[in-house]
Formats: sequence, C-alpha cells, structure tokens
Amino acid sequence: MTSLLLTGISSLVTNDPAHGGLLGELHDAALVIDGRTIAWVGSRRDAPPADSALDLGGRAVIPGFVDSHSHLVFAGDRAEEFAARMTGTPYSAGGIRTTVAATRDATDEQLTANVARLVTEMRRQGTTTVEIKSGYGLTVKDEARALRIAGQFTDETTYLGAHVVPADQEPAAYVDLVTGPMLDAAAQYSKWIDVFVERGAFDADQARTILEAGIARGLHPRIHANQLGEGPGVQLAAEVGAAAADHCTYLTDADIDALASTGVVAGLLPAIEFSTRSPYPDARRLLDAGVTVALATDCNPGSGYSSSMPFCIALAVREMHMTPAEALWSATAGGAASLRRTDVGHLTPGAQADLAVLEAPSYLHLAYRPAVPLITQTFIAGRPA
Ligand code: NIG
Ligand code: FE
Repeated sequence: MTSLLLTGISSLVTNDPAHGGLLGELHDAALVIDGRTIAWVGSRRDAPPADSALDLGGRAVIPGFVDSHSHLVFAGDRAEEFAARMTGTPYSAGGIRTTVAATRDATDEQLTANVARLVTEMRRQGTTTVEIKSGYGLTVKDEARALRIAGQFTDETTYLGAHVVPADQEPAAYVDLVTGPMLDAAAQYSKWIDVFVERGAFDADQARTILEAGIARGLHPRIHANQLGEGPGVQLAAEVGAAAADHCTYLTDADIDALASTGVVAGLLPAIEFSTRSPYPDARRLLDAGVTVALATDCNPGSGYSSSMPFCIALAVREMHMTPAEALWSATAGGAASLRRTDVGHLTPGAQADLAVLEAPSYLHLAYRPAVPLITQTFIAGRPA
C-alpha cells in the first residue's frame, strides 16, 4: 500500500472529541492516508514520513459528507410543480405518481445515467457516502430494478415500495404486494426498508406490517415521519427500533422524548422545507433534548431537487439556528449515525479516508459563503473522487 501525507491544513475537522470541542478541530494540521484508511492525524510539526506528500496551502479539510437520505432513481422532473408551488399551490405527495409513470417508462440505461449524474454532482459538493431509496417504481419489477441500479453506486440502498399506493391499487392489496412478492424481489438488493408514514400515504398499522416484514428478511428499518403534519411516524420508529426518523418537521413533546430516550436519529432535510416553502423543523428543540440529529438532502424530483450538503448546512445555520459546528457534525457524523456506520463521518486513524478539501481556511465558510462551490477535492477510500 502507498501512503500519502496531506499537509498545510489550516483547519482539520476530525469529529474526534479527544481533540476537543464537538468537531475535534486541529489547526496547522496534517493527515496521512494509507491505502483506503486514515493512518495518522496531528500537528504538521509532528507529521511522519509518507510515500508522497501534498501541500494543501492553508485549506480546510473536513470528513466527507454522509447524505443519509436521497431518492435518486427516477426519470423526468417536476419543475412545473415547483413553479406552481412558488405561486401558492401547496405541496402534496400526489406528485410522486407523476414521477412513477416517467420512471416506469425509462430504460435501465436512462435511469443509471441519471443516478450517475446526480452522484457526480454530490461528490463535487463533498458527499462521500450516500443512501439511495427506491420508491418510484412501485411494481415488483420496477422496485427491484431501482434497487439493483442504486446498488451500483452505494451499499446504502433502501427499499421504499411503501412510498405511496399506486393510483390503480387498493391499499390492502398493495400492502400485501409490498410485504410479499415485491419484498422477495427487493430484499437481495437492499440494506434498509423505509415507509412514508403520512396522511395520504401509509398509516401506522400498515407501516408496522411493512417494516416487520422487512425486518424478518434482515432489512433494517428507517421511516419518513412527521413531514406534513403531526402523526405516528416518530413513535413507530421508536417502537420498531428504526435507525432514523427523517423529516421530523411536526413533532409533539412525546415525539421528542421518544427520539431522545431510544436513540433514533432525527434526520432533518431543510432543502425540502426550502423547496416546499414550509416551516423548518425545530432543530434547537431536538438538540437541546439530546436527540442525535443528521442533516441530509432528500434529493428527489418533487419535494426538493438539491444534491448539495453545503446548501443544507447553510439552511440549518441560517434558518434552523444550528451552530456551524452542529450543522457540520450533523452532515458528517450525524449522517453516519443515521446509517449506523462507524467507519465514516470522522477522520481518525482506522477510519475510511473519505474527506473533502475546502477552498477556504475554515469549515465556517460552508455557511458563511452559501452557494459558493468551496469543495476543491474529494477523496473516497483514499482515492481522489
Ligand atoms: O422525502 N416524502 C416522501 N417522499 C419524498 C418526496 C417524493 C416526491 O415528492 O416525489 C420526500 O420528500
Ligand atoms: Fe424522502
């Protein structure tokens, strides 16, 4: 294996509390990558020799972003729906069916090319791990196809046959399909199972049935919860031991208690509130209660079509009153917690060498300079991506 010394790092975010503060930030730092992993981090003065060296000239280095929620396998777009929202039409999940029709009509090559395009966008913006859901196929064949394609890009694949009930189906028969033949076809390509628990999508009893069927097949549960109004999603996430309850826009005190006491990660997706012109989730209430918070894009063609974790960080700081340090932690270590990954989301010896180099002296610039492309280089498993 060959080793690479990165030096001239003005600020290195390790997310290792041993180095102090939430982010374990080191100044005038260096880092050694050996093969796929981090071999050493510390002060530039103490850096060990390596096979080659790269002087970053005073730039900041952060762990690569862990985007724990996205829907990238789809065809077409819904730009007109977005434009209508901006003149007052409210968001409803009904638009999902428009994307389902376009996705079923697309070829494997078209879907694969679209995922590749979006994953490339994400990497350019510093994302090194991404979770990808199905949910725009909603037939046995089309859900299995979406997951097979997603698996070409990530290990974090999520079966979301329970996104909405297709227009031509009865809810009870569709739940039978999702827990039966569709699960049979999807399970081999999936790590996770997800349900959209919301009025207009699936209720608590249907969702419990679906998640338990997935768990019985070795899939791990996560939930779309409490996006459009208060509801049973968060409580169900706690009940079934879900890794994450994502959206969390409308929460009761009991929901916050359930998240805090069970350790279910709250996934906040502020690009969705931005693009649906909705109230942002109350991140302070969650953080002050001790809930683990992840930030993710939820990139999809309907409720929010941004692939940018830096944009989510800027929104979290400006609109949700997270500190810049909390927002960066949630976009890296928080995302890793949401995906139950211990090998990513931090830069400590032994971790996977997934990192982003900023054209800036500090991570603060991610929120301070919104919409500026600050990521100059991304490494995934030790290799330039
Ligand atoms: O996470 N909430 C459900 N699913 C997506 C939206 C999908 C769509 O509108 O196409 C979400 O926001
Ligand atoms: Fe989503």
